[in-house]
Amino acid sequence: MSQSSQVDPAKLAAARAAIALVEDGMKLGLGTGSTASVMVRELAARVAAEGLNLRCAATSAATAELAESLGLRIETLDEIGWLDLTIDGADEVDPQLHLIKGGGAAHLREKVVAAASDRMVVIADPSKVVETLGAFPLPVEVLAFGFETTRKLIRRALDTLELGERDVLQRLKGSDPVVTDEGNLILDLHLMQIPDPVALARALSAIPGVVEHGLFLGMCNLAIIGREDGTVVELARDAEIDADMLAHEGE
Ligand code: 5RP
Repeated sequence: MSQSSQVDPAKLAAARAAIALVEDGMKLGLGTGSTASVMVRELAARVAAEGLNLRCAATSAATAELAESLGLRIETLDEIGWLDLTIDGADEVDPQLHLIKGGGAAHLREKVVAAASDRMVVIADPSKVVETLGAFPLPVEVLAFGFETTRKLIRRALDTLELGERDVLQRLKGSDPVVTDEGNLILDLHLMQIPDPVALARALSAIPGVVEHGLFLGMCNLAIIGREDGTVVELARDAEIDADMLAHEGE
């Protein structure tokens, strides 16, 4: 059964275009978040209609639960071994197809799955397309052990990169810390702009208490941007981005 008219048409258009890339026999990675959920529903509908034989790995417990509830069989990444295609959402996409991910606190598993895929396709609505990453606070998954020390080391790294004086806030749900599927905590780095994502990624990865940051650099092969009118725009790396496609500050 396909999805109702209550689904955001831009997300639905992107999800449908990505699902059209799926072929019988493929090994798939399934992303996390609201756009990825639309995609999982579309995938389940196609599998039911066409009897596709797929092997799927999920990037979060939430996605695994949704997929299984819709009749998709989920296996672990290690059972499958290597994936043909991962389809996931993103919080920001820049013209190089660098991404910020982790708005759903799942970027660690998402990165592990994307790294084990021949192709990563991102699906998003136009609000996610930006010229420069950083308006969306960068999620960093950190160990609970030495949490405040890790926060200090992150602040020090931001100072070194002249990104200091920015909020580095623990993500909470209500008054409780958000705990990831791997049992870690999340710090959100409110940077406004990330002029050099490669340098920041390197600096964060060098901090021992950092488990994984939400910068996905050079991992995404294709971004499919759905629009309200049901059409999509496909962005390849370094493609010129239409000004209408860019998220505007303050929106
Ligand atoms: C989860 C993610 C999501 O893909 C990202 O937050 C986008 O989510 P949504 O489609 O709900 O906007 O990275 O960790």
